Amino acid sequence: MKKALFSLIVGLLILFVMLLTTGSGSPTDFDLFLGRFHPALVHLPIGILLVAVLLEILTRSGRFGSYSKAVSAVLFVGAWGAILAAFAGLYLAQGGGYDDWTLTWHKRLGVLIAVLAAGAYWLKERTRNQTHRETQNQRRGFAAVLAGLFLAVALAGHLGGELTHGEGYQTRYMPDALRNLAGLPDKEDLGRLALENPEEATTYAALIQPILDDRCVACHNPNKTKGGLLLDTQEGLLEGGDDGPAVVSGRSEESVLIQRIWLPLAHEDHMPPEGRPQLTIAEAELIRWWIDQGASFEQTLAEAEVTPTVQTILDGYGLDEIRTGIFALDVSPADSTDIEALRAVGVSVTPLAEEEPFLQVRCTNPAACAGDNLAGALQAVTAQVAWLDLGRTEASDTTLEAVSRLENLTRLHLEQTRVTDAGLAHLKGLQFLEYLNLYGTAITDEGLQHLTDLPELKALYLWQTDVTEAGVQSLQQALPDLDVNLGLSLDPPTTQASDEAEES
Ligand code: HEC
Repeated sequence: MKKALFSLIVGLLILFVMLLTTGSGSPTDFDLFLGRFHPALVHLPIGILLVAVLLEILTRSGRFGSYSKAVSAVLFVGAWGAILAAFAGLYLAQGGGYDDWTLTWHKRLGVLIAVLAAGAYWLKERTRNQTHRETQNQRRGFAAVLAGLFLAVALAGHLGGELTHGEGYQTRYMPDALRNLAGLPDKEDLGRLALENPEEATTYAALIQPILDDRCVACHNPNKTKGGLLLDTQEGLLEGGDDGPAVVSGRSEESVLIQRIWLPLAHEDHMPPEGRPQLTIAEAELIRWWIDQGASFEQTLAEAEVTPTVQTILDGYGLDEIRTGIFALDVSPADSTDIEALRAVGVSVTPLAEEEPFLQVRCTNPAACAGDNLAGALQAVTAQVAWLDLGRTEASDTTLEAVSRLENLTRLHLEQTRVTDAGLAHLKGLQFLEYLNLYGTAITDEGLQHLTDLPELKALYLWQTDVTEAGVQSLQQALPDLDVNLGLSLDPPTTQASDEAEES
């Protein structure tokens, strides 16, 4: 007994010295080789120490009293198992990049287990060797130590799981009822992104920084600036590391950050270093896409140019519908009687898209669509009409007065109608209008001035109107994203033809 206890004390002392002297430094390959025995070794003492607890309970129940001696033997083996596992663990930790808090407590609990196991062994041996019966206090003290041991094993095991498999490992398959009790989201919502406001959420904040936080920040943060690189903030990304900028805007293939992710896993420079949770292909692709798009910190998801691959990835995150424009509005569907009233005027009314409240309205009876009837029928569906086609009808400036109340209109056809410059003034408030067709009308440059405040206007058709190039240019100064279609301009060929005529 004396020798056995002495060996445990020596083992514990060495463990203490190691705990105080090693941190996460630059381990040699051999250190890491030793460290990787930790997961294999650690399950041994866990099992053995639990057997000790179980045996003690059985011996106390009376029927298995003769096993009492076995308890101390099991505790001795368990204590040594805990010491060896802790040794290996300290080597493993030198690799660095673990969550600080979790690692610190996992280490402390690991050492505590070794101490408690050795202490329990000592207590057991002492009572076994005494001549009188175990006193009540001794029994209670021993039970308390075993209870503490049991708790420490459970907690250290839990933290160990979080260290190797990432946070949430233990609760991943917990039933939703329990998850909710613990304040966790339902299982179904894991890995999904719920964006409060997709028009304002930036690609960087919604998609990129969370990936870096998950996979890189453990080693690239103000406390642990590996390679001189900070990846926890925008400034850090811009600044780069010891080897210069990590990101070259618009050029992923020249960005060190991407180059390192793409290196073979076994390559020294591969990031994250081998043995660490790696990026998924989708995560790596999102970062590449973000850099190639200009590595912007301001661009919103709604503005981003989503490639088919990226769309597939976003679908996976539950971002299949980034709702923008009128589709982000909360509009209730139109009353069926109102729709019937509209149809009665002589227009066709169809839904714009499945399960959307918005309507497309097309005038099929040219004479009917000019009068007060249409204006009246539109009154009841001002929020729902998104597309309105009045092309080739009798529509006039008075009709546009009714159109001005269609607050969510995105598309308006007025080609070959009698609308004039004055009528266009009614369109000023249509903040979602994207498409306007004025082909074959009497519009002039003056009319275009009413369009300068339409923030969303992207396409304007002006073929066969009295608008001039100069008029278009001044409109485009106000709306740089606007695409103007003047149709076939007949002027240049005419001059060219007359030039040729002069030459010949
Ligand atoms: C386990 C720790 C660890 C993790 C996790 C980690 N790195 Fe590193 N990283 C390092 C170390 C150590 C260096 C410095 C040694 C080197 O240059 O390889 C480094 C260097 C770098 C450098 C070079 C910086 C320079 O200028 O020298 C880049 C870029 C980089 N890491 C990117 C990443 C990215 C991106 C991730 C996440 C996908 C990541 N790292 C995750 C440890 C880590």
